[in-house]
Amino acid sequence: MANLVPFWLLVSAILAPFVGANWNILRQKMNNNLDHVVADDALKIYCESWRVNVEVNNVRGFEVVPQECINHIKKYMTSSQYIADSERAIEEVQLYLTTCCSLQGDGTDAWIFDVDDTLLSNIPFYKKHDFGGEKLNETAIEEWMKSSKAPALEHTLKLFNLIRDKGIKIFLISSRRENLRSSTVDNLIQVGYHGWSALTLRGLEDEGKEVQKYKIEARQRLVNEGYHIWGIVGDQWSSFEGLPTPNRRFKLPNSMYYVA
Ligand SMILES: *[C@@H]1O[C@H](CO)[C@@H](O)[C@H](O)[C@H]1NC(C)=O
Repeated sequence: MANLVPFWLLVSAILAPFVGANWNILRQKMNNNLDHVVADDALKIYCESWRVNVEVNNVRGFEVVPQECINHIKKYMTSSQYIADSERAIEEVQLYLTTCCSLQGDGTDAWIFDVDDTLLSNIPFYKKHDFGGEKLNETAIEEWMKSSKAPALEHTLKLFNLIRDKGIKIFLISSRRENLRSSTVDNLIQVGYHGWSALTLRGLEDEGKEVQKYKIEARQRLVNEGYHIWGIVGDQWSSFEGLPTPNRRFKLPNSMYYVA
């Protein structure tokens, strides 16, 4: 043991100048930036945890993205991470479809999709409205929807085609209002969706009804008509919750708004 001590002294003596130099640079940087860096990191951690808790449905019913997190949500919703997260969700659906279902093949197999931020992306609208940091202006978003300019979420389009080609009937259940029917259909067709079985929109009788309740009623009608709902793909928890349930539910990321 005693023999090792001089060896370590030698090593330390050789390394000391380098360690010292690096430490000085580091210390200078830290003095300049430390407060800034710590604050940035803390905010990033805070906002990412807000975002994740929206996704898992712990944070509910928010009307706007917290002011201090607007930038974080903007970065996420325009990032390759958002695309990768969405693609991963779709891949999980594809995986599920390879083994899941003893399809009836008699026209009663059904699948449900949301429209907004599931088939069509509203990111171009939210870009102009602080990525959810502004309280939603119903008139403005309906104007955007009427323009039929929403792009497709490309990975969802591929899945839509795959499901349709399996002979599963596709039902679109959206919280958009009836007055948007023709613009919605035009938009869907323009970006490549075709061959769905029905598009359910909110009629006058659904005004003022919670979206969750409205969607439950739409699913119940399908079940009453004899359909088996194998799955739902949506970006809102209000598309999934309550009975009747499908076999599986697949949540796409969206932390810009919450539909109650
Ligand atoms: C909502 O949007 C409409 C149409 O873009 C606009 O005329 C109106 O001023 C907006 N309302 C508010 C409160 O910002």
